[in-house]
Amino acid sequence: VAERLGVAVLGASGYAGALSAALIDRHPRFDLAAITSRSGAGTSLDRLYPHYRVGLELIDPDELDTGELAAAIVAYPHMAAAPVVAQLLEAGVKVVDLSADFRLRDLGTYEEWYGHHPAPELIGDAVYGLPELYRAAIAGARLVANPGCYPTATILALAPLARAGLITDLVVDAKSGVSGAGRSASDATHFVSVDENVKAYKVPRHRHTPEIEQELAAAGSPVTMTFTPHLLPLDQGELVSCYVGLRDPDTSEAELRALYAEAYSGEPWIELTERLPGVRDVRETNYCAISVHKDPRTGRAIVFGAIDNLWKGTASQAIQNLNLMFGLDEDLGLAP
Ligand SMILES: NC(=O)c1ccc[n+]([C@@H]2O[C@H](COP(=O)([O-])OP(=O)(O)OC[C@H]3O[C@@H](n4cnc5c(N)ncnc54)[C@H](OP(=O)(O)O)[C@@H]3O)[C@@H](O)[C@H]2O)c1
Repeated sequence: VAERLGVAVLGASGYAGALSAALIDRHPRFDLAAITSRSGAGTSLDRLYPHYRVGLELIDPDELDTGELAAAIVAYPHMAAAPVVAQLLEAGVKVVDLSADFRLRDLGTYEEWYGHHPAPELIGDAVYGLPELYRAAIAGARLVANPGCYPTATILALAPLARAGLITDLVVDAKSGVSGAGRSASDATHFVSVDENVKAYKVPRHRHTPEIEQELAAAGSPVTMTFTPHLLPLDQGELVSCYVGLRDPDTSEAELRALYAEAYSGEPWIELTERLPGVRDVRETNYCAISVHKDPRTGRAIVFGAIDNLWKGTASQAIQNLNLMFGLDEDLGLAP
């Protein structure tokens, strides 16, 4: 009988943490060893999220015993995550951090977009947790920085073009369901503000911008992009529409499709489609649906990427990363 690995989820009362806990709970090789929350300590998770059917009781983070843990998923907001990530690593626990604290490799960029970094000495240890780009490094990592939701969809939608050095100019128009903003509702994410409405937000400085630029540059296309997210009256789902100026504007749609087919051949969770993808196509799955088109009139490529922000955008991608970190089949526990 294969050994089972104990995994804790910290911040399991939040949207990302709760789904992470549910996916660990049903995983064939991981045991949900503990779930934490300050506000929910003493309640069982199925009181907060009945549809996940996880009866385990939430405990206060101070009560967490790291002794038996193989790994932890930290589902805290940025800045709150880094200190606890440092403690877990110190205790010999492998970590997938869902926050932005270890996604940016340059400390100056982090401080420009987020503020003072609570554990800068660990930035060099972190591997950016996009398996389709960093599979081998993730397998050897003790700290994986799970990507942001918009960056997941956008980087996957553009990586083949970036690797070919083709991107000269980029505008990304992005749309998300409200769960992307987390559980604590503000006026902007209140039902009354969101229902029957569509609106842009964080113009012109959304914090996912430097993360996307970092990864496109690392792939081979340094670019200063415009990124504009919009909030949709949906609970889950994200669609990015990427308008790309090409180094070679004569590249045909067939050539672009061939580039994508080659880049993503054998990728279990990338679905290349000729049809235009919708968020419903990928709901509650680890898939990223990508569709590349060419506008011969403008010379631009138009690429669409659709994900479920809570799944491939965070929780199921965290499980994909944990599978890699423990040498397991990457798909384990993720079947739709
Ligand atoms: N929602 C998404 O689609 C999504 C996608 C990608 C990445 N993420 C990232 O995942 C993380 C969690 O996001 P979320 O949407 O799940 O947020 P959320 O619903 O607001 O949940 C945050 C969780 O962290 C805990 N928490 C809040 N402040 C804390 C603090 N100062 N110290 C310790 N615990 C604290 C909260 O529980 P208590 O207050 O009860 O302790 C809660 O369990 C964030 O870093 C977010 O950027 C989210």
